[in-house]
Amino acid sequence: MKSFFNVQDLGNLDTALTEALEVKKNRFGYQELGKNKTLLMIFFNNSLRTRLSTQKAAMNLGMNVIVLDVNAGAWKLETERGVIMDGDKSEHLLEAIPVMGSYCDLIGVRSFAGLSNREYDYAETIVNQFVKYSGRPVFAMETATVHPLQAFADLITIHEKWEELKSNPATAPTKKRPKVVLTWAPHCKALPQAVPNSFAEWMNAADVDLVITHPKGYELDPKFAGNATIEYDQKKALEDADFVYAKNWSCPGVTNPEDYGKIINKDMSWTIDTEHMSWTNNGYFMHCLPVRRGLIVTDDVIESNHSLVIPEAANREISAEVVIKRMLESL
Ligand code: CP
Repeated sequence: MKSFFNVQDLGNLDTALTEALEVKKNRFGYQELGKNKTLLMIFFNNSLRTRLSTQKAAMNLGMNVIVLDVNAGAWKLETERGVIMDGDKSEHLLEAIPVMGSYCDLIGVRSFAGLSNREYDYAETIVNQFVKYSGRPVFAMETATVHPLQAFADLITIHEKWEELKSNPATAPTKKRPKVVLTWAPHCKALPQAVPNSFAEWMNAADVDLVITHPKGYELDPKFAGNATIEYDQKKALEDADFVYAKNWSCPGVTNPEDYGKIINKDMSWTIDTEHMSWTNNGYFMHCLPVRRGLIVTDDVIESNHSLVIPEAANREISAEVVIKRMLESL
């Protein structure tokens, strides 16, 4: 695997899930693969889970890891061509990238959407430069439009819980596939669409029934929403849900391009509380974290025994290890 941005980069999802479960049982079993190999993790934005879980995954595989926080100690980077660099940016990304590539074997990049220019963000302008100029396999640690390590961890978490429910006669579901609902929830800041984009993309490819619910104007890009059922009535969407994946995102600008990246709704009736969860099929709450309590979800729901937020975060180590392992195997 030379790059990892979208679900198709992983190939067959059942095979990937099987590999994830094997890696989880034997996470130190592939150390020879990473011996004398170096992962460079580049962060243009903050992180807790991605930083720790990806570094842990690489260490499980026997790799050396270098972490660069671009905004904490590196030269400020110019990303545009054709500019006179007489401002505060001392180095151009087009020199910095091949230099960084010369110190490592694999590169992970985190670079969020700027949310001011849809075309620039959805062209994945920054990470594509890493792909083009680094000479190394590159994987997304959340880019302008996708967060595939998160979506893969979410899929592993849903798969594990569904198998657990199936294995117990007292909880065995009567339906063949779980109903998974991705629901928008309110927030005080304009957030990118990377997490809901990838979650929708991956759930469309998985063996689940996907429903997406949000206020009008928050339609995700069709290339990610795919064949999901779109339901604007949140209560109707949540009925019979087995998994509730809450997330805020700013306006994707699909129906109104001029609203791209804006907050166009703050309706607090969309916050997931115990009443919302009571509409579900005894469903499980999910969120990628970090989460703002009181806006996205109430304390009662996130602290309940039907909250999967901690296993989801723990599975980030596994999704990262599978991806890095496959990249090492392809070197
Ligand atoms: N879910 C996630 O990517 O968390 P961080 O932003 O803390 O890495």
